[in-house]
Amino acid sequence: MAIRNIVKKGDDVLRKICRTQLNFDDKLAMILDDMKDTMYEADGVGLAAPQVGILRRFCIIDVGDGLIELVNPVIMEQSGSQIGQEGCLSVPNEYADVQRPMYVKVRAQDRNGNNFVVEGEGLKARALCHEIDHLDGILYIDKVKR
Ligand code: NI
Repeated sequence: MAIRNIVKKGDDVLRKICRTQLNFDDKLAMILDDMKDTMYEADGVGLAAPQVGILRRFCIIDVGDGLIELVNPVIMEQSGSQIGQEGCLSVPNEYADVQRPMYVKVRAQDRNGNNFVVEGEGLKARALCHEIDHLDGILYIDKVKR
């Protein structure tokens, strides 16, 4: 396991559409382990693969109720709305209000390729949306209300 370098705003890698992760192998497991170490080291609540320079559809979140690894996540349902402050490890020392759904239901695979569903409200919904946006090259700063 290792701490990886977090790509910062301005790097093109953050603006690419990530590709589906097809292999559930030791390499994926190693990257997910590194991402976990990197996120906790940086005091983040989420980290997406492109933020460590990997253009594949996976991310992790931990909003205080445990680590969730999401491979090929898709938002299946969403409802309500919330406006709240958001930041990003790729946009250091900046925070701004962003509108997000209050609730989301996400389908994803775990590191072994098994399907699961996770539901999130409030901060968890916000984190899920933020990280899944990263997989499509979208940063929260694109959604800031002025
Ligand atoms: Ni981010």
